[in-house]
Amino acid sequence: MRGACACAVVCALVALCACAGLDERTRGAAERQLLALLGLPRRPARRAAPPPVPRAMRLLYEADGAIPAAAANTARSFHHTPTELDERFPGEHRFRLYFNLSGIPSDEIARGADLTFQRVDEVTGAQRLLLYDVVRPGRRGKTAPILRLLDSVPLRPAKGAVTADALSAARRWLSEPEHNHGLLVRVLEEGERNVDAKQPHVRVRRRVTEEDEEWNTRQPLLLLYTEDSRARAARESGETRLVRNKRATQRRGHRTHHRRKEAREVCQRRPLYVDFAEVGWSDWIVAPHGYEAYYCQGDCPFPLFDHLNGTNHAIVQTLVNSVNPAAVPKACCVPTQLSSISMLYMDELNNVVLKNYQDMMVMGCGCR
Ligand SMILES: *[C@@H]1O[C@H](CO)[C@@H](O)[C@H](O)[C@H]1NC(C)=O
Ligand SMILES: *[C@@H]1O[C@H](CO)[C@@H](O)[C@H](O)[C@H]1NC(C)=O
Repeated sequence: MRGACACAVVCALVALCACAGLDERTRGAAERQLLALLGLPRRPARRAAPPPVPRAMRLLYEADGAIPAAAANTARSFHHTPTELDERFPGEHRFRLYFNLSGIPSDEIARGADLTFQRVDEVTGAQRLLLYDVVRPGRRGKTAPILRLLDSVPLRPAKGAVTADALSAARRWLSEPEHNHGLLVRVLEEGERNVDAKQPHVRVRRRVTEEDEEWNTRQPLLLLYTEDSRARAARESGETRLVRNKRATQRRGHRTHHRRKEAREVCQRRPLYVDFAEVGWSDWIVAPHGYEAYYCQGDCPFPLFDHLNGTNHAIVQTLVNSVNPAAVPKACCVPTQLSSISMLYMDELNNVVLKNYQDMMVMGCGCR
């Protein structure tokens, strides 16, 4: 019986779906457990209309969560937070960008940070973009700021966005948020010493005349890629994790009558579509609306055939059970191969986050 076997995220989802007919407390417990498995402290607040998903995030999601930073399982996007300081940078060639990363859970480690700038059409000549981390802000007329060069990007007439690397600044902000003084971006003429670009190739600040809608698609965007502690633990142990599910016994009572009928069927993967609307999560999970999780169920009969993916131990256990059923139960039909899915969801600050979750979908079952 599955109830007695090891279980993963998929099992918690099964529990939550099956909970529809159960009381509030059991349902709440199943939901909390699933949220913990997903690495969320609590359920994000209910919202009437989800915020628009930034194009860059949508593209990542459509690429099956192919995050362009090794080991990262999460992607977040940030825009500059306007402040009074903005007025000190009236030119289009020099600006201080501030990204507020304070909402990122402390267990996440930055693995990549790409700052993208949109190009301006019909600008000619060679320029260079310099990106600095403002380690200590200057004080007017007293001290100069301390800047650390992060990236230097040549600019030539071309199409498409320009990307600069801001990873070491993002790392610093995550470990010491009080010392996040933003980034300084400068655009210079190439080949000359310290000459500001008169007509920069890229947009670094908003024009006074620019409407929200126009600026939204042109403003610099910081894409931050992180790895959370669950993904790190899984990567370091180098194996997929099968988490023992304590709620299993409670679930067994609920579904016994289904099982008895199917019990003699041999161990195999069965369809299970998890609909996030049914679970009541469609207000904070932006995409997908649901997915095929599958589950494993069935008998592990003696003799254990090869296609049941049994371990030597399962074969021995099945053998002992066939001789003396009272001594030991049969082997369990459990997921032996799981795969990940990507999800776009809203965090508590109303930002859209893309995360790849491991072990969300059963690929193969076996007797263990
Ligand atoms: C950053 O965001 C947090 C959470 O929304 C907010 O409390 C804080 O004041 C913000 N900091 C700045 C400097 O805008
Ligand atoms: C055994 O594992 C393979 C590969 O993961 C899978 O294709 C097959 O369906 C599994 N057997 C069962 C009974 O699920």
